[in-house]
Amino acid sequence: MSKFRTIWPTADNYVEVIDQRKLPHEFVTEKLITYKDAEVAIKEMTVRGAPLIGATAAYGIYLAVREMVEKELDGSFLDQAFSDLRASRPTAVNLFWALDKMREAMDNADDFLKTAWEAAAAIVEEDVETCRMIGVHGLPLIEEIANRKNGEVVNILTHCNAGMLGCVEWGTITSPIYQAIQKGIKVHVWVDETRPRNQGSNLTAYELTRHNVPHTLIVDNAGGHLMQHGMVDMVIVGTDRTTRQGDVANKIGTYLKALAAFDNKIPFYVALPSTTLDMTINNGLTEIPIEERNQDEVRYMIGKGPNGNIEPVLICPETTPASNYGFDVTPARLVTKIITERGVCDASEEGLLSLFPEYKL
Ligand code: MRU
Repeated sequence: MSKFRTIWPTADNYVEVIDQRKLPHEFVTEKLITYKDAEVAIKEMTVRGAPLIGATAAYGIYLAVREMVEKELDGSFLDQAFSDLRASRPTAVNLFWALDKMREAMDNADDFLKTAWEAAAAIVEEDVETCRMIGVHGLPLIEEIANRKNGEVVNILTHCNAGMLGCVEWGTITSPIYQAIQKGIKVHVWVDETRPRNQGSNLTAYELTRHNVPHTLIVDNAGGHLMQHGMVDMVIVGTDRTTRQGDVANKIGTYLKALAAFDNKIPFYVALPSTTLDMTINNGLTEIPIEERNQDEVRYMIGKGPNGNIEPVLICPETTPASNYGFDVTPARLVTKIITERGVCDASEEGLLSLFPEYKL
């Protein structure tokens, strides 16, 4: 496992992130100097993935505090930063969790700057350890299939990117995979390209390549066929928000994979840090806000052209409109198990409370 992270402090106490819009073609980093930089990075998907969005927002608050202190602004500036960052993306609940953590820290702070810096850093460190533990608990699920197959390759299908690029270091779905590889278990990953933003082909394929994990890119519609032909042993996806009863919001298209897995009796696992739980809501279909993004993300594909430039290509008639829902909700009944930092549980209120009793009402 590389020690590379997706967000890190700079020597002059600002923050740096990878511009994930340029991957896999170019590795470019971006320095965030103001909270507005953090807000734009989240909105424009320079950074993406629920835990990383939360970590970036936390550092965004630190940057706002720094600006407030340096320019001797009053507290309304910080309030504005909280509300701007809160409005940057709607679905991933980690954003709101991280901002609430930062608010609590700031409300109890004597030294604003030091507190904000330490609280943001703590959120980042917590994600690293949480994801490592998701791997510890998810590894036996892969190991069991490997044993059943007498050490043959375990074929895992995933959608979107719930790897280290969506988090800070280990990733959620990739942590069990990286730990399985470290243990010598043979793993192969089917990578859904994940239209329209292609987190699969651009990001998952990139990080699996960097970690020498055997993988194959597939179009989003191929999963059902592969499952029908015994070419998938398990599905693991991430989530942006999971409700009290275990409904799972994740990148658009996840639900269709869950249906196909259910029909083919293939286990469908969701790996999540508890920071992605929203125990205040029950019904994912009616209560999770689903982001709708710009239709041009569907109408154009972005890639590296023959001249080496990264450019958009129109793939429909000029005037054809498109719809672009960013997420869908997989009902709990289609989820085999949820993998968390505290263990593996059923996708139900009872299951979640068995690991997280602090949420008992
Ligand atoms: O729109 P994105 O790229 O932010 O969506 C990300 C996903 O849906 C991920 O699978 C999810 O956030 C889990 S990240 C560990």
